[in-house]
Amino acid sequence: FFRTEIPEGLRRLPGPKPLPIIGNVLEMGSRPYLSLTAMSKRYGHIFQIQIGMRPVVVLSGSETVRQALVKQGEEFAGRPDLYTFRFINDGKSLAFSTDQAGVWRTRRKLAYSALRSFSSLDGTTPEYSCMLEEHICKEGEELIKQLNTVMKADGSFDPFRHIVVSVANVICGMCFGRRYGHNDQELLSLVNLSDEFGQVAGSGNPADFIPFLQILPSPTMKKFLSINARFNEFVQRIVGEHYATYDKDNIRDITDSLIDHCEDRKLDENSNVHVSDEKIVGIVNDLFGAGFDTISTGLSWSVMYLVAYPEIQERLYQEMKDKVGLDRTPLLSDKPNLPLLEAFIFELFRHSSFLPFTIPHCTTKDTSLNGYFIPKDTCVFINQWQINHDPELWKEPSSFNPDRFLVADGTEVNKVEGEKVMIFGMGKRRCIGEVIARNEVYLFLAIIVQKLHFHTMPGEPLDMTPEYGLTMKHKRCHLRATMRIKEVTLL
Ligand code: HEM
Repeated sequence: FFRTEIPEGLRRLPGPKPLPIIGNVLEMGSRPYLSLTAMSKRYGHIFQIQIGMRPVVVLSGSETVRQALVKQGEEFAGRPDLYTFRFINDGKSLAFSTDQAGVWRTRRKLAYSALRSFSSLDGTTPEYSCMLEEHICKEGEELIKQLNTVMKADGSFDPFRHIVVSVANVICGMCFGRRYGHNDQELLSLVNLSDEFGQVAGSGNPADFIPFLQILPSPTMKKFLSINARFNEFVQRIVGEHYATYDKDNIRDITDSLIDHCEDRKLDENSNVHVSDEKIVGIVNDLFGAGFDTISTGLSWSVMYLVAYPEIQERLYQEMKDKVGLDRTPLLSDKPNLPLLEAFIFELFRHSSFLPFTIPHCTTKDTSLNGYFIPKDTCVFINQWQINHDPELWKEPSSFNPDRFLVADGTEVNKVEGEKVMIFGMGKRRCIGEVIARNEVYLFLAIIVQKLHFHTMPGEPLDMTPEYGLTMKHKRCHLRATMRIKEVTLL
């Protein structure tokens, strides 16, 4: 790469000098979103580092990232062949695998339309506008009951432990047509161990780039492999049950609809069959995985911010009391009347940037960006954290201030300002669960804010330091919650 001839008129990428064998691993350190942001100040919005022997291009700055992912979308839409990605969904993941462009596009379209149709299905009663709303409201109410019970029994609760089950149940409902109890050991052992998944799959894991590290024993890697194996086993078993009970005239959930797609294709003799049944039905594995870890991490952070900023927690409660009242569960249609809540969510995404990098990208052909030459098959990191903390875009980026998104005396959200926050990626690989995720974070949070008041444990200071990974988590901790309204209304 470094010796590659640079085509005339283009420049060689700037970047720090790499050490032999390890490259720039030491400069990247344990928080690459901070070190690579610092490097962007020195080398600009496009520069190159070397991890092990492999060059990686790092993009920051919203204009540069937009240029690459949107305007030159095709050229930057690939995924690199990374060691750890081969173990996710048996190497057949829609999000992480090196599927050829045509295969990936077909799978992405299928996944998108399955998600859209099963979230917008009518609810079982007219009070809900759609199935997604019904699932979230029911799981939200159940979560409040669960936290109330745990508070009574233990005097404190671990936010992630309970939120993750509620969120997993929403995606389980859509993908598999079932839900699990808050103490279901099988689900708990899967969803509560997702930390190692994120740690290994995060951008810049040296084991992805330095082959000798792949053969050294690593406890985190061992857990990562075991989580992937157990995850696949869990989904495979449910998929098997769906095949056994599949009925063309009664498509129950996303798994059925993917099986149905495979069956239809077999009848259609003219169809160009390029994608295997396994890769089609396997989409459900990606949807389930992406659908619980991201949202529960975001919601768990939101509880941490409520506790860290009690005056904002109080304002959110007042807004809820004034605009929705306390007699009914909030709904999706209440969103336009809750500008502070929407602003809080924008600021949560921006300030925490809990997905600091997108999933790594890869160039699909020789290309250039801002006059710099980038060869085909180059791994590209997109630093979302940098965009969300760029002083060129944000006033006092390190302070947590939802009011930055409010206008007209706090009665309206500035959507244009909200769109500057980058957490779902951009362009061809942009997250396909974005609408569901935004609705889910909003509605769970609305239900939580209406019914609970959160506090720290006396003598236990709040630790807001993120632990680096694909999704950054806060350290597991214990908090307290008191009911805002009488239990009678709940039970
Ligand atoms: C990809 C963020 C929720 C499904 C992504 C990417 C990001 C992201 C940053 C990578 C974009 C890129 O590589 O450029 C988030 C956040 C979420 C969330 C912050 C919640 C707050 C969801 C949900 C689903 C989902 C609920 C599905 C139910 C996917 C899939 C991809 C993806 C399938 C891979 C797309 C591809 O490679 O073409 N998401 N996501 N995500 N997300 Fe999400």
